[in-house]
Amino acid sequence: MSQYASVVVFLSLVVSLLGEHALPDTFLRCRQTDKKINECLKTAVPDALRKMKKGIPSLSVPPLEPLLVSSMRVQSGAGPVSLTQSYSRVQLHGLTDSVLTTYKADLKHMRLRTDSRTPKMEFIADYVMRGRILVLPIQGKGVANITMVNLLVKHDLIGEPVQRDGQTFMHIKDYKVKFIPEKVILSFTNLFNGDKRLGDQMNLFLNENSELVFNELKDSYEKSLSSVFQDVTNKIFDKVPMNKIFPEQD
Ligand SMILES: *[C@@H]1O[C@H](CO)[C@@H](O)[C@H](O)[C@H]1NC(C)=O
Repeated sequence: MSQYASVVVFLSLVVSLLGEHALPDTFLRCRQTDKKINECLKTAVPDALRKMKKGIPSLSVPPLEPLLVSSMRVQSGAGPVSLTQSYSRVQLHGLTDSVLTTYKADLKHMRLRTDSRTPKMEFIADYVMRGRILVLPIQGKGVANITMVNLLVKHDLIGEPVQRDGQTFMHIKDYKVKFIPEKVILSFTNLFNGDKRLGDQMNLFLNENSELVFNELKDSYEKSLSSVFQDVTNKIFDKVPMNKIFPEQD
């Protein structure tokens, strides 16, 4: 009898531990069988983003406003922009203002594709850089502000089923993003060891050529940020069983 009792205690402990790993009740749910699941997700995902502004401590989801990224190295090769940049203490602002314009969920194959639009995404970081842009040498160490205005992001998530404790989790094994900003505004403080005249001229030059500069660096930004988005998504998807995120029925 006492053995039985301890099993019951143990099981209820397990259940309550598992129970902690649920989405907050305030999150909107989209049923797997919903014929309009894409419409549902178009509302539910941005709603969840706004509710995650301060993070979800019980799931170790970090605050999304701003989203902190530890460090990033951007290397661009032999083209018109040849630069080595490292960024640290990166803050992304504006993510939670995103809206989704399309959503294509194929839960059977664990594939999620969505386009988001962010009115203003600010990337603020400490930077160190050295290299050449067109014919001009550039170097500096200070604070960077790369602002993407009216940013379209194409997200492509590929998941795989992971079985644990008799539950299926949808682990995201690949997360690709494409950034298509309407406009990019670049600003780097303290270029050329703080030479204000040279620094102002270079910032002007960068903004006159922002499309070229951004296109050269886009791949590196996309790679770094997609792995950040993947981590955040998996904080939830690796802990909350798939049928708790996308219920099978009401
Ligand atoms: C970054 O640049 C944008 C566009 O110029 C500006 O609106 C924003 O206030 C700047 N952010 C910071 C933290 O300097």
